[in-house]
Amino acid sequence: MENIEQPFEQEDFPYEDQDYERVEDLIMWEHHQIEDKLVKAISGEGLSVNERRDLFNDVKKEILHHMNAEEYTYYQEIPGVNDISKDQIRESKQEHHQMKLIMSEIDDVAVEHPDWKAKLQVLCEDVKHHHREEEEEFLQHTKEEWSDEKSQKICQDFLKAKKKANF
Ligand SMILES: [Fe+2]
Ligand SMILES: [Fe+2]
Repeated sequence: MENIEQPFEQEDFPYEDQDYERVEDLIMWEHHQIEDKLVKAISGEGLSVNERRDLFNDVKKEILHHMNAEEYTYYQEIPGVNDISKDQIRESKQEHHQMKLIMSEIDDVAVEHPDWKAKLQVLCEDVKHHHREEEEEFLQHTKEEWSDEKSQKICQDFLKAKKKANF
């Protein structure tokens, strides 16, 4: 999980037998992975303090890579698709920014402190809200409008952007 070259477990990847897939499916799949991990980190069930911190660090990296890839690839292509406006994209980027701020605050709090869980819950709510908005306002429309070929090309660019990320 710590490997930046391979940000997700290969066996979990739904398209391992194909060399292409639609970007909307990949983004949706990553949304679910991220949300599952956040819920698990919040509950902390069966996890030691260190494991909980590791899980947060792991999901934080996934969120950062996901947002970065969206901004450098998918978001670049969507203005004008079903009247998606630049303002909507700007708002979405601001939500990314808010999530980064909360995550850096969480870094400064000890896992044992009650604020750690409270901040993680706020992050999880923000992430879920952001994901549902992206799915309804962007993914649904590009899925209708883009050919498989176009979507697959952006998917490849998205994966390349994730591999290049070195943070
Ligand atoms: Fe996003
Ligand atoms: Fe997303």
